[in-house]
Amino acid sequence: MSFVRNQWYVAAYGTEVGRELFSRTVCGESILFWRTEAGEITAMADRCVHRRFPLSEKPSNLVGDTVVCGYHGFTYGADGGCVAVPGQTRIPRTARLATFPVRERDSFVWVWIGDKERADESLIPRAPWLDSPDHTTVWGMEPLKARFMLLVDNLLDLSHETYLHGGYIGTPEVAHTPITTEVDDETGVVYVSRHMDDAECPSFYAKSTGIEGRIVRWQDIEYFPPCLYLLHSRVAPVGVYPKDDGTDTDAFHVEVVYAITPETENTTHDFWAVARDFALDDQGVSDFLHDNNRTVVLQDVVALDKLEQVIATEPDGYQELSINIDTGGLAARRILKRMAEEGAPREQVAR
Ligand code: FES
Ligand SMILES: [Fe+2]
Repeated sequence: MSFVRNQWYVAAYGTEVGRELFSRTVCGESILFWRTEAGEITAMADRCVHRRFPLSEKPSNLVGDTVVCGYHGFTYGADGGCVAVPGQTRIPRTARLATFPVRERDSFVWVWIGDKERADESLIPRAPWLDSPDHTTVWGMEPLKARFMLLVDNLLDLSHETYLHGGYIGTPEVAHTPITTEVDDETGVVYVSRHMDDAECPSFYAKSTGIEGRIVRWQDIEYFPPCLYLLHSRVAPVGVYPKDDGTDTDAFHVEVVYAITPETENTTHDFWAVARDFALDDQGVSDFLHDNNRTVVLQDVVALDKLEQVIATEPDGYQELSINIDTGGLAARRILKRMAEEGAPREQVAR
């Protein structure tokens, strides 16, 4: 599948971008990020218009609010326009870097890939827990040598937790409990839920919450294609449910957030964050959740990298066999295909 264009994608955490030149490839575009002296984030092509030298490579550098190419010194402002070239005063009219609409939301840096005039910041899906004072968040990003779709498929079917993540977040009940799937065709959001009312407590939750014994474990997924995935996880001792007035103070809530960003056709940025509403100041819990979740993410990375190698040997299409657990993943594929067609230049739209 080609990239879904005319969409917002997470390119970085806000803390990754500062007064150093920072590069990340999103949907095949090499993008240079930096902050102005006033702290505004900028996003522009990471290729000098002169001889294509990557502006993120040393000795290119930031001087005030300009980027100076480290090869021959072409100099660009925050709007991508060239303001100086060596050896002449006339600046060629076409000396300008492409820029990308960019916004910071919920600790992420979102970049718009597509037609600039269609960029609408109200379309950026939200993950408000990540910078909320009511939550404590641990986060990371792992590079994946596998195509975007494999990670979408992986995250929309959590029954793999029982097998791939056994001993960490997987217990037998995850694979054994049926899911419900809903799709909002209007908005494209995919919902997958699995509610376990009497489940073993995996070490991920036993050690972080202190619960001893069996648990009520609810997993409610919301996937906002293409990039943002939310897993609302509710954990409580067996028999403890939300109160009639809708409050739920006797349960532990973990918001697991992924941003799934294509780097190239066959590689993906796997951003992950875990926000909790308990033990907010406990560094031991933060360290445990960070290390444990990273281990789990790396288990997926190893499996998906392997899967990419396998399907790359079957370029003419490969056979799959889907069952009930795949309903969410199949819905996501259908929505993404539609989005790819809507976002594509007119001549590429399937008839
Ligand atoms: S390649 Fe940048 S100035 Fe020559
Ligand atoms: Fe996984």
